Amino acid sequence: MSLQETLTSEERLAELDLDTLKQLVGLVEYDDHEDPFPVTGWDAAVWAVGNATQSAHFFVSAFGMELVAYSGPETGNRDHVAFVLRSGAVRFVLKGGVDPSSPILDHHRKHGDGIVDIALEVPDVDKCIAHARAVGATVLEEPHDISDEHGTVRVAAIATYGDTRHSLVDRSRYDGPYLPGYVARSSGFDRLNRRGGEGAPRRLFQALDHIVGNVELGRMDEWVEFYRKVMGFTNMAEFIGDDIATDYSALMSKVVANGNHRVKFPLNEPAVAKKRSQIDEYLEFYDGPGAQHLALATNDILDTVDRLRAEGIEFLATPDSYYEDPELRARIGEVRVPVEELQKRGILVDRDEDGYLLQIFTKPLGDRPTVFFELIERHGSLGFGKGNFKALFEAIEREQERRGNF
Ligand SMILES: [Fe+2]
Repeated sequence: MSLQETLTSEERLAELDLDTLKQLVGLVEYDDHEDPFPVTGWDAAVWAVGNATQSAHFFVSAFGMELVAYSGPETGNRDHVAFVLRSGAVRFVLKGGVDPSSPILDHHRKHGDGIVDIALEVPDVDKCIAHARAVGATVLEEPHDISDEHGTVRVAAIATYGDTRHSLVDRSRYDGPYLPGYVARSSGFDRLNRRGGEGAPRRLFQALDHIVGNVELGRMDEWVEFYRKVMGFTNMAEFIGDDIATDYSALMSKVVANGNHRVKFPLNEPAVAKKRSQIDEYLEFYDGPGAQHLALATNDILDTVDRLRAEGIEFLATPDSYYEDPELRARIGEVRVPVEELQKRGILVDRDEDGYLLQIFTKPLGDRPTVFFELIERHGSLGFGKGNFKALFEAIEREQERRGNF
């Protein structure tokens, strides 16, 4: 199979090509013939939220996503409503309980707004499940077909950390807007008018780069091993101890990735330190392990940040000292814009042997101090901003302090 053929249907729909994806998310060539659990890429990030109707509007109006499909009582789904949103190749599905006995409401009571399912696109659902079962993974849903007039989707699901799951989806025989049971739907929100008719609205982000999981103290290596053994993922990078420690708190992190590097999972666990780390805070308020942040790849982080700020999205503040630090200036060298432009927006920069990246983090998206977004613009670097971790964590600690959780 050539790399071109392995573009996901979402990437093709979003008119992304291989060169763009190499830059955006570090896509690499990969032959999956020998892979017992081949993964093509992301299928969707599925959220359980307290009010999907309003969250969908928020992601459309503030984050510039496009509403493409819907499921709910009007379509025969009496349990919950679900809104399918897209930006480039990124697909979010927001679910909120309608029936008072909906399991989505139980999930939300325990965890608050968060990611319930990191769904992955795979070419052979049955092969993946057979392998996963053989090596001891928990199969939550056996492979089965679901069909409607648009064709057939084959799906299954396995359990991962906390109450999170990985649905495995083969939609190669399907051309509907999302899954059987969903109908096409668009939003009445008029972005073009609201922005003064300045031409076609631009996508604020084009692809999903990575999703970070926070796991229990002492269990990071177990989860790294899970992804290695069950899904054939490989280690990408490793940060331990002092790499990610401030004077007060510490965490450990390892990154695993699928063969073509589209799907990257950094896994964090808290490390023992003087005070509570952001991971401890997450684990307490999410009431267990879960997805901590989703990194959204953009090819113009300055414009994206400006537009999101104009919509009222709040980012973690970066102190001026970060930009004035001569050591940092020397380390980052030349980037595509003057450092002052980054400083104005609080955008962080990191460089490694392959290149550099620009990144910034939002404040938590919901009521609890749990899930948030990262925006990332890669220029060769395949890292995750290791050099920024300390500055970043100090910024997070200031926020924790304000919440009384430090
Ligand atoms: Fe990240």
